[in-house]
Amino acid sequence: MLIENREITISNGKRIIIRSATDADAKSLCQHRYVTSGETYFMARYPEECSFDIADVEQKLLHTRNSACDFMVTAFLDNEVIGDLGVTQLRNLTKYSHRAYMGISIQKEYCNMGLGSIMIEYAVKQAKENGFEQLELGVFEDNIEAIRLYEKFGFQKYGIQPRAFKLKDGTYRDELIMVKML
Ligand SMILES: CC(C)(COP(=O)(O)OP(=O)(O)OC[C@H]1O[C@@H](n2cnc3c(N)ncnc32)[C@H](O)[C@@H]1OP(=O)(O)O)[C@@H](O)C(=O)NCCC(=O)NCCS
Repeated sequence: MLIENREITISNGKRIIIRSATDADAKSLCQHRYVTSGETYFMARYPEECSFDIADVEQKLLHTRNSACDFMVTAFLDNEVIGDLGVTQLRNLTKYSHRAYMGISIQKEYCNMGLGSIMIEYAVKQAKENGFEQLELGVFEDNIEAIRLYEKFGFQKYGIQPRAFKLKDGTYRDELIMVKML
């Protein structure tokens, strides 16, 4: 599904459009994922692992658009993606139908300006409207700012996946699993 379009102003005075990315935004979304994957190690991928298969991303965006419950909350500056949030049903099976998974990334230049909070607020509201009963996520144990932000929105820690991530330098990070009941 597509969310309603909104225009907001972040603390640096820039006007940002919040809407769902569509297939027409595939290239910009790939570029955003490439950039954010290189800015911190808190993303799942290293930049070179990000797909630039535009046709494949277009298909995925089309699938999300046609879904009754999955959606994206995407932030655009001058029609380019600077923030990406996705909410997807955990598995397309009845026993999982109450659970959604959320992931978010914002380009470093636009962090700490209130954008993440706005995107999460929209996502929580929309997920509830779509019938989900709980929103889940996984985060690097040392991503303190993100964890603080999730806690601000009522996400609670409920588990640890030990050594979920192995970085190129050979060190491991646990994954903190969080849930918000809607
Ligand atoms: C984690 C992430 C999504 C947070 O997004 P963000 O846009 O920086 O978050 P916000 O700006 O809304 O909030 C973070 C802090 O910014 C500050 N802030 C919030 N609103 C603000 C405003 N209007 N003006 C100035 N500062 C503000 C606050 O210090 C806030 O902390 P608080 O909630 O304790 O007050 C973003 O940093 C990010 O994408 N990081 C890289 C990728 C990543 O780690 N993703 C998460 C993977 S699980």
